[in-house]
Amino acid sequence: MKTYDFDQTVDRAGTYSIKWDQLPADAPAGSLPLWIADMDFPCADPILDAIRRRVDRQILGYTTHNTKDYKDAVTGWFRRRHGWEIDPDTLCYSPGVVPALSFLVDILAQPGDGVLIQRPVYHPFTATVENTGRRVVNNPLLYENGHYTIDFQGLEEKMALPSVKGMILCSPHNPVGRVWTEEELRRTVDICKTYDKWIICDEIHCDLLREGVQHHPILQVCPDYSHRIIACTAPSKTFNLAGMQLSNLVIPNPVYRELWRHETGDRFPVASTGPLSIAAMTAAYNESEDWLDQALRYLDGNFAYAREFFAERLPQATVCDGQGTYLLWVDLRAYCSDAAALRNKMVREAGLVLDEGDLFGPEGAGFERINLACPRGVLRDCLERMARVLR
Ligand SMILES: Cc1ncc(COP(=O)(O)O)c(C=O)c1O
Repeated sequence: MKTYDFDQTVDRAGTYSIKWDQLPADAPAGSLPLWIADMDFPCADPILDAIRRRVDRQILGYTTHNTKDYKDAVTGWFRRRHGWEIDPDTLCYSPGVVPALSFLVDILAQPGDGVLIQRPVYHPFTATVENTGRRVVNNPLLYENGHYTIDFQGLEEKMALPSVKGMILCSPHNPVGRVWTEEELRRTVDICKTYDKWIICDEIHCDLLREGVQHHPILQVCPDYSHRIIACTAPSKTFNLAGMQLSNLVIPNPVYRELWRHETGDRFPVASTGPLSIAAMTAAYNESEDWLDQALRYLDGNFAYAREFFAERLPQATVCDGQGTYLLWVDLRAYCSDAAALRNKMVREAGLVLDEGDLFGPEGAGFERINLACPRGVLRDCLERMARVLR
């Protein structure tokens, strides 16, 4: 088994990387980007080899994902990794989770209907609901001493409203890093069941877990409500394949599946996804588990390093849960209570491009989301810069 070196720095400049090549105009030269959620780690060897082998076939024509190999790769992964048995017939392809959310909201709610989300949360949830002419119903997470929980009372009250049709759940939750427990998921589903509401569950971060933490696929926890649940998965966060534009939905309800096919049929490319994406995804799910295990332990090290740094050098910062994802969510209000001033300190003074907390909803103002999927030397540099401008 190969030992991967996650300390190595790979130059991404000039690759049209959004993270590195599209920095804000006021970021000074030499700025460090620890924002948008992809990794600065090279992909697993089997993935790169599979892409090379596919390129060697010289022709990159229309390519189908509707094959046994493809479905075996996806179902095999979730069986091995999460003990989740997915019926291959329930798998639906999408070029991304974000476009999928938008199609799904179109299918499941009418213009003007309420869709519940729990901020601070991945910002496209808000945009998707608003851009499709539906209405955001926010049930903010409860926050106490760096720990987030679901406001079940608020959830019940809002779900009881006839105008609210369902919810988009982020599991694990970006940006706060909570991995919901089985009990939290059950309570959420029970409330939706009581009021007959659907759940779109975005599980894109499901493989990115700290040591000892377990993710519970919602469809596995609550199979009896599967006709009202759609789960979104992808190899993109797990294996650093975000540019490959490939994700998989699990839609157990055949009526929803038919609606999905009808809605997307003439909007997605006819024969669907790119040949290189398919090569990458199958090699990721079938052959790259050891890379992921090593990447996760390296990320554990980065989380521990950042926690220690904050404790020693910026002790008034509150580092939040961090049970899952590779995103660290830090409450910096004790150092700078004004969100705009905090942003200027980070970008203009420190030369740090992070994701400002209020991007995820006003509840996130004064927080920063830091992408820890980078070599430790880069993380050290980032934290030193932060300490310099905050103290
Ligand atoms: C919760 C969540 N969903 C979806 C996405 C993006 O999905 P995609 O690139 O497949 O559209 C991200 C990316 O950061 C995310 O954090």
